[in-house]
Amino acid sequence: MKKILVIGSEGQLGNEIKELYHQFREAKFTFTTIESLDVTNQVALKNKITSDSFDYIINCTAYTAVDKAETDKDLADIINNQAIKTIGKSSSEINAKVIHVSTDYVFDGSNFKPYSEEDQTSPNSVYGKTKLDGELALLKENSESIVLRTSWLYSSFGNNFVKTMMKLGNERDELNVIFDQVGTPTYARDLAKVILYIIEKDINLAIPFQSGIYHYSNEGVCSWFDFTKTIHEIANINCNVKPIESKDYPTAAPRPHYSVLNKTKIKTIYNVDIPYWKDSLKECIALINQ
Ligand SMILES: NC(=O)c1ccc[n+]([C@@H]2O[C@H](COP(=O)([O-])OP(=O)(O)OC[C@H]3O[C@@H](n4cnc5c(N)ncnc54)[C@H](OP(=O)(O)O)[C@@H]3O)[C@@H](O)[C@H]2O)c1
Repeated sequence: MKKILVIGSEGQLGNEIKELYHQFREAKFTFTTIESLDVTNQVALKNKITSDSFDYIINCTAYTAVDKAETDKDLADIINNQAIKTIGKSSSEINAKVIHVSTDYVFDGSNFKPYSEEDQTSPNSVYGKTKLDGELALLKENSESIVLRTSWLYSSFGNNFVKTMMKLGNERDELNVIFDQVGTPTYARDLAKVILYIIEKDINLAIPFQSGIYHYSNEGVCSWFDFTKTIHEIANINCNVKPIESKDYPTAAPRPHYSVLNKTKIKTIYNVDIPYWKDSLKECIALINQ
């Protein structure tokens, strides 16, 4: 029986993995939370990883407060970079393979066509920079690592854009939402599925683990404005949503204007069928409304 350690299991992605792991019969799972394993404690992190003969480590922790990171640089760096380096080093010692999640914010958003894994990174926020440093550290420390870059993550767990727009749409008659930032929403359940699928294929020897960076989001493209309109449409919320420019909604951390990810690599190597963003959104809203 293979052993899988899931670090940071109380976030959106971690909770989605917890929803799915029962169907996964090939392995025994260990889940940690910030209470049971705070990754800022590098000694505890190393000890946990090397305490057992884990075959796979899935890292779901992150410092995700993008604006706060601008003034909380040291902590963002510890969680998004230094801890990932420790995960890389420690996992390498026990020959465990790692799946780690990164972000579209490693790009500056100046592209006009979907970003591939080979495109030049150039983060324009502390969050993006620390996540990029974490990617590089992991790939350097453990050659058996996969970095999945994703974008605009939401779930029925935790706080996210979908839940905020549903709440605001129900409270207000009118909402202003940015239309000049374009990307792709990603249902965390779909991301969780693909992570478990990659491990399952490796265990079954159907598709051997292929290290490196992969892009994964749902299919399609939209702006935050379109995303909001669709959330309200699906959830039957009557609210007048107005498009505004980023300059009219200043944030501490600049956001990429364009961060659509090209997913050809993961589709080719892993033969995955990726759901269209509106289909996954319907699935998630149905769960939120339950
Ligand atoms: N959310 C997005 O829109 C988005 C977009 C692109 C990429 N991503 C990436 O996708 C991955 C999953 O994101 P997510 O949305 O699931 O994040 P999330 O919901 O914010 O979950 C992150 C988890 O990490 C935990 N954590 C924070 N500091 C920790 C520490 N010192 N020790 C242990 N655990 C700690 C958090 O605990 P607390 O909640 O108790 O702090 C939380 O449970 C991350 O790598 C993120 O960078 C996210």
